[in-house]
Amino acid sequence: MRISVIGGGLMGSGIAEVCARSGISVTVVEADEERAQAASDRIIRSLDRGVRAGKLDESEKAEAQERLAFSASFGDVAGCDAAIEAVVESEPIKREVFRELDRLLPDAAFLATNTSSVPIMKLAAATERPQRVLGLHFFNPVPVLPLVELVRSIMTSEETLEQARSFAQSALGKTCIESQDRAGFIVNALLIPYLLSAIRMYESGFASREDIDNGMRLGCAHPMGPLALADLIGLDTLQAVAESLYEEFRDPAAVAPAVLNRMVEAGLLGRKTGQGFYEYSS
Ligand code: 3HC
Repeated sequence: MRISVIGGGLMGSGIAEVCARSGISVTVVEADEERAQAASDRIIRSLDRGVRAGKLDESEKAEAQERLAFSASFGDVAGCDAAIEAVVESEPIKREVFRELDRLLPDAAFLATNTSSVPIMKLAAATERPQRVLGLHFFNPVPVLPLVELVRSIMTSEETLEQARSFAQSALGKTCIESQDRAGFIVNALLIPYLLSAIRMYESGFASREDIDNGMRLGCAHPMGPLALADLIGLDTLQAVAESLYEEFRDPAAVAPAVLNRMVEAGLLGRKTGQGFYEYSS
């Protein structure tokens, strides 16, 4: 089986890595050579981390690397059995990707999006075969978190859903939950208003970032506090998900706080840029 992953950022590289470690050949497509190289470097760093943590050995790492190909040319998806889109959370860009995937992969088992919140039907509508389109939503860090949300639009066929479920469960070993096609699906519909509330609490001066995060870590046994998690997700992604949720539900709890908007405008996007609510050395 060969899968194409469109977009080699944080999520796309994680998905590609998990596929390659599960014995699946992967073509990662990026916008240019520089980004394709960055995706390759990111995956190698993560594989090395997995080796250091004893999750795989050097020979498994080498085999995973052999299954990975990187390209800056969209045409290289041709011949793949299925595709997963993981580009930025921008509906117009994602729609364009789906138009191209539909044209280049007429026989694909499924065309999936890893969108955090854009309703699947909006992307499926860009294709001639909306019955093959669905959401396969992974969680960051993808090699570590076991969940995949399966999101079926009103047009997704039963066959597509089952092929994607079998891919995520049997081929990748993930646990699937099934969500209806509403912005945010199950997890982000619950998680994002919580993160935005924490940012509002910090913005208002009600408590320090450390106390907010320690409160949820030590008082509720969350692996990390909400501000640290916002930095892990990426503040631009968080802002985009908030906008999708607000557009769908008009719920004030989904409005991005001003400080989040200012940080995104300033390029303070969290871990990936080295600064968000906290500073990161590398
Ligand atoms: N490959 C394989 N295993 C890895 C790995 C890799 N690249 N990197 C880390 N691991 C393993 C480690 O070996 C360790 O395994 P162990 O528990 O068996 O020893 C485990 O993962 C934890 O790693 P670390 O000990 O290095 O780090 P921490 O214990 O500090 O955990 C964390 C880091 C996994 C990020 C943890 O804090 C966590 O789970 N945080 C919450 C993350 C979360 O909520 N993510 C969801 C975000 S929402 C999302 O993604 C949706 C989007 O649409 C917005």
